[in-house]
Formats: sequence, C-alpha cells, structure tokens
Amino acid sequence: MEKADSYLSVKNLSKLFGKFLALDDVSIDISAGEFVCFLGPSGCGKTTLLRCIAGLEVQSFGTIIQNSEIISGLPTSQRDFGIVFQSYALFPNLSCFQNISYGLENLGWDKKDITKRVEELLLLVGLSDHSAKYPSQLSGGEQQRIALARAIAASPNLLLLDEPLSALDAKVRVHLRQELKSFHRRLGLTTIMVTHDQEEALSIADRIFVMDRGKIMQFGTPEDIYANSSNPFVANFIGMTNFIEGKVLNEKVIKIDDKQIDFIGHGFAKGTKVLVAARPECIQLSKKITKNIFNGKVADVEFLGSFLRIYLETSIMPNQRLIVDKPMVGDFDKSISVGDVVGFKMLPTHLNVYECDE
Ligand SMILES: Nc1ncnc2c1ncn2[C@@H]1O[C@H](COP(=O)(O)OP(=O)(O)OP(=O)(O)O)[C@@H](O)[C@H]1O
Ligand SMILES: [Mg+2]
Repeated sequence: MEKADSYLSVKNLSKLFGKFLALDDVSIDISAGEFVCFLGPSGCGKTTLLRCIAGLEVQSFGTIIQNSEIISGLPTSQRDFGIVFQSYALFPNLSCFQNISYGLENLGWDKKDITKRVEELLLLVGLSDHSAKYPSQLSGGEQQRIALARAIAASPNLLLLDEPLSALDAKVRVHLRQELKSFHRRLGLTTIMVTHDQEEALSIADRIFVMDRGKIMQFGTPEDIYANSSNPFVANFIGMTNFIEGKVLNEKVIKIDDKQIDFIGHGFAKGTKVLVAARPECIQLSKKITKNIFNGKVADVEFLGSFLRIYLETSIMPNQRLIVDKPMVGDFDKSISVGDVVGFKMLPTHLNVYECDE
C-alpha cells in the first residue's frame, strides 16, 4: 500500500536497457506539494527514473501511481506533468511568447486565454519585457526561466526538472535556485528535481533521495541524511567525511590505533572492524598534545572565507589526509601553520559508524 498522503508512488520500479539494469527495484513516495531531489553521481539512473515518471521511458517492471491513478501504462500525452530538461531545449526559431504558448495552442486553448496566461507566466518569471525576444537573445538563466514558464503553462500538478541549472555559471545558478525555491513556496507545486550537485540538493529540497547504481541508497530531509548518513556511500557523497578504521571494543567504545573513543552506542558486536565517519566540522583541534588524544601534522591550510580547512597527516588515516574545518574565531586559528603538530578530538555525538565490508 502506498502511504495515504502519497501523491506520487513509484513501486518496485526496474528498468533494463538490454542487459544493463539502470533502475533496480526503486520504490518512493512523494507527498503533494513536496520539493524532492534525486541526487547521485553521473550514470546512477536519475534521468531514467524521471523519464519513467513522465512516460518518456517505459519501465521493465513496477508501477507508478499519481493522484491515486495507475499511470505507468499511460502514454506521455495522458500524464499530468510539466518538464524542464538539462539543455535549454527552447525552440530557437520561436519568440519567448511563442515558446510558452506553443503547448497551449496544441491543447486547443482560445487565443485570448493564451495571451492572458503567457503574460501571467512572463510576469511570474520576471521576464515580461522579453516577450518578443528569441532564445539566442537571452542569457542562460533567462532561457531556463522561459523553459520553466513553458513547463508550467498548462498548470500541471507535477513539475519535473532534470538538472535545470547545470549549464549556468556558479553565481546565476545559486541565484536561480533561490528563485526556484521561492517559486515553489508560492505555487506549492509538487516538484522533483534531478541534480548531481549535493549543495544544490541540500539547499533546496524538502527531502532528498540519494541514488547509486540504480538504487535508492537513502532518503530523508537534508539535515537527516547529512547528520545520520546510513551508509558510507551517502556519508561520502553528501558533504565531506573522514573515514577512520577502528575495531569495536564494546557497545560504547571503539579502538582506533592505540587509543579509545567513546560512542553513544553503535550496535556492533565486539571485535567488528568498523569505519568511523567524522565530518570535518566535528573535529576539535588543540595545541596541547596529551597521551589520550590523537595528533597529526598540519600538511596544508586553506582559507575559505568564513572558515579554515586544515589538512592533517595522522597515523590513524595512513592513506589520506584528515580534513578539519574551523570557523576563524580565536587566535589559535590565525596562528596555525603548515608543519605544526596539533592534537585533535572527535565529538562522539557527531560520529557515524559503519561495518567494514571486506
Ligand atoms: N537509452 C539508453 N540505452 C542504453 N543505456 C542507457 C540509455 N539511457 C540511459 N542508459 C544508461 O543507464 C544509466 C543511467 O542513465 P541516466 O541517464 O539515468 O543517468 P543519470 O543519473 O541521469 O546521469 P547524469 O548525471 O550523467 O545525467 C547509464 O549508465 C546510462 O548509460
Ligand atoms: Mg541525467
């Protein structure tokens, strides 16, 4: 059974391209009005999943239900969605007005209604003055706004966005993602956005579905998947993480090197080899080095505006540098420099532990 409040349910969906399994038993539920992101590395199946929902790709197995109706057997033309593709895909030989009105004409709308609706949409995306322009006369960000206006012209109940911002430069991208968010707040349209940019997903989504190799690896609010990543793939893909090998001593203690660190409780049996995942901002540095705390040598310091990123060489991470992020507040932060030997502690409440697969 799908959840009672589910607007869109994907059930056990698989997609084969020949023998290649692009989607592997994917099940998701999305509530009406939610803004969700499909996030994952290139080739993990994000676009394929979106295209199955739109009917642009036919699933090999599984069902899709939208608004209590099974839609997975319906042709694209009978499904209720608007879509924006990664490449702008505006018609180059049509003006902005015509690009937006095109679909409405096909639906047989009355000319007067079309004009009214297009003007309303141009106003909504802030491009009323650009009605007569052609796509080549617009900036990338403006083109994507027109594409967005076109996608919602016929008032669909579901908006599908496939990396709508990826072709834009960093500044425009951040600006437009804030616009998308406020746009969503105003219209309350159920929206699915595909992205491989974790920062984008974290900043915009109500919930994120993290994908890898055709599977959903985890879903949840941005805060939840960042703080409680349920596997090393997610911990590594969302933000930055230091992975440190250890061995379980008991329910609340893990041995790393010749030292012990405390836990809130991790559920692994004594002797289990584990990976301890520590976010860069959850490591505390000190100039004092005692027997009980770890130490490392500063290999590099990067000034990143509001914080310092410090790279440490330490025996507990023999093949990689440990990354520590520190807001620049005290004198200590200003004086830290390459070659210093410093102590560090990991905050027990902020660690995740995973079993090592061998
Ligand atoms: N029509 C097709 N025929 C064969 N293989 C395909 C086809 N479409 C996609 N694939 C394969 O399925 C996998 C998933 O592709 P998909 O386009 O969904 O990835 P994606 O997550 O959107 O990646 P990206 O971030 O690069 O856009 C890829 O390995 C791709 O090569
Ligand atoms: Mg894609």
